[in-house]
Parts: sequence; structure tokens; C-alpha cells
Amino acid sequence: MRNRVHNFNAGPAGLPITVLEKAQDEFINYQGLGMSIMEMSHRSTPFDDLMKQVDQDMRQLLNIPDNYNILFLQGGASLQFSMLPMNLLPKNGSADYIVNGVWGQKAAQEAHKLGNVRVVASTEETNFDRLPDLIRADLDPKAAYLHFTSNETIHGNQWPEEPRPLNDVPLVCDMSSDILSRPVDISKYGLIYAGAQKNAGPSGVTIIIIRDDLLEQVPQDLPVMLDYRLQAKKNSMYNTPPSFSIYMLSLVLTWLIDLGGLEEMAMRNARKAGKIYQAIDRSKGFYRGHAKTEHRSLMNVTFGLPSENLENDFVKDATEQGLVGLKGHRSVGGLRASIYNACPIEAVKTLVEFMSKFQGEYG
Ligand SMILES: Cc1ncc(COP(=O)(O)O)c(C=O)c1O
Repeated sequence: MRNRVHNFNAGPAGLPITVLEKAQDEFINYQGLGMSIMEMSHRSTPFDDLMKQVDQDMRQLLNIPDNYNILFLQGGASLQFSMLPMNLLPKNGSADYIVNGVWGQKAAQEAHKLGNVRVVASTEETNFDRLPDLIRADLDPKAAYLHFTSNETIHGNQWPEEPRPLNDVPLVCDMSSDILSRPVDISKYGLIYAGAQKNAGPSGVTIIIIRDDLLEQVPQDLPVMLDYRLQAKKNSMYNTPPSFSIYMLSLVLTWLIDLGGLEEMAMRNARKAGKIYQAIDRSKGFYRGHAKTEHRSLMNVTFGLPSENLENDFVKDATEQGLVGLKGHRSVGGLRASIYNACPIEAVKTLVEFMSKFQGEYG
């Protein structure tokens, strides 16, 4: 009735329909206050309450200990590629980067402009079709931090569990494309950052979770907007925060809590991904998965067909049938189904049926 498509976009991506409906309901008049959330001062009590609620819901869902701060900033995950080393990579120090895709590579390149960076493991040689083996002797026991990307959105690989740093080297993660998709032991991390526009909400807000003690290392002379310590002290409200994006994030968090939290979400996500991977594995080579089986992402399923022409036909036919966003990223080619939290199992079932029909016709 609403003419909604099955949305497999990689980000910005689909949002839960109940979240969109709630936002629509409150769009003109938020909580009977006679104005929308976008028209309200960020210094007002209702907005302050919203910020507190978002902080509390994030803590509840991810089980975030008290000695961590949660920041809600702008600039996307890409700004974090620079902000992180500005704050945590001292001039005479060095940071280790694990590179299992283009995003990790960009993070390392940006950090390299600001300080010493060592790429300690990479799978670029095989076009990031797998996670690298981490050789412990290659790690710097004195590194300022060890950075990795938990889910590489473009290549479709994901760490089943986090790599282990040496000693007390802080583990830093770009969790942009799998935050809130499964439970995570936050206490293993020094810092996590994520753009919201895949699993957590719309674009415009970036989530940063940072351990207290790391704030103490932040240099004194940073521009205020790029200073984690100052942003933490000001509860992410040194200046006007992205209020509408934070509001949408709050609705997504409530939706996650209501459906049973991250254990439940992880189960649903595994089930969805399992269905598509099964279709690929049973296709006798017609569909070809990009990532190695053990390293497959539950968020972004990347695969190809025997020819580029067939891939183009696949995207065209799928789009005509209301299955959109399936074209792979230009750097990998092929196809990609992004099936974040908000992607319902029905969309996945429809895709799997389509894949089977398409193979019947062209296989
Ligand atoms: C893993 C990962 N890191 C970083 C980014 C860049 O995010 P942003 O557009 O918020 O800067 C993306 C975007 O797709 C991503 O998937």
C-alpha cells in the first residue's frame, strides 16, 4: 500500500518502518510541545532529556561500562579517521593498523598524514576477500593503539571476534557497518566509532565510545571541535548537535530494546545472512561469493555472476521487481546485498526466491 521497496542499500540504508511511522507521527508536534524536534533549542529540557535517554539506551543495549563516554558528533566515520590520531597518536608515537578493506586503508592513510602508522596486516593482495592472519610478533607492544574495521562494507568481510592487541595497547575499531548488530564486549576496546547511517539511524550523527583514561592523553592544543576530551566534557553539545539525526537514533534504539536487544538482533541477522549464503553455495558456481567462507559478513553479502552482463541484468530485473540497491561497490564490482538490522527477513526471502528464478532463467 505504501509502495515500499525491498531495500538492500549499503548506507544510508533502510530504517525500521515503525521508526519511520513514529517519526512521521511526531514530525510536526513532538510530545505535544507544539513544534518538531528540529525546531527546538538543543539547550531545552526536552532535548536534554532525549540526549540522556539516548546515552542510557546505548549503555543498556551494548552493556557499556561506566568508565566509557559516548559522544554523538558530526563529520561521519571519515572525520574519525583524522580525529582519532589527532587525539590519541602522540608526535613521537606510532599506531598499528590492520587493513581488511578499503575503509581500513583509508583510516590508515589519513592517520599517516598526522603521525607514524604501521600497517601490520593486510589482505589487499587478494582484494580483501578475507581477514589477515595476525602475527603477534608483528605487533608493536608500545603502539598508541591497534586499529581495525570490524566489518568491511565494500568487500563483505567481518571479524567473528575482535583481534587481540598486545599488553594494554588500546584496541580501536571502526564499527560503522556492524555496530548494534550483535553484542560486543566493550571492555575489550579503548575506542569505537561508527557513522549511524547503516544500523543505527540516518546519516548526520557519528557515535564514539571512548574509555575515560584515553581522554587524559588528548593534547591540549587541539581545535575545540576535534577534541574528544572537550566534547566529552560538554556532553557532545559544545555547539549545536545534529538534533534530528540523534532523535532518529533514539527511535532506532527504542526499537532494538523492544524487540529484545542485541542477542535477538544477532540471531535474526545470522538467519538472514545464512539464507543468502546458502543460496550462493547451492548455486553450483552460478553465484560466486567474494569473501572466504569463514570471514563472510553478516551485514554485506558480496557476490558475482559468471559475467558482467549477467550482473547488469540481475540488477535491472531485481530493481523492476522492487529489490533495490544490489549493485556492488565500484571497487569490487558484482553484487552486494546489505542486510542491516532494519532489513526484514521477508526482504531476504524475496531476494533468495529471485536469485533462484534468475538462475533458472540464465543458469
Ligand atoms: C566501515 C566504514 N567506515 C567508514 C565509512 C565512512 O563513513 P562516513 O560516510 O560516515 O564518513 C563507511 C561508509 O560506508 C564504512 O562502511
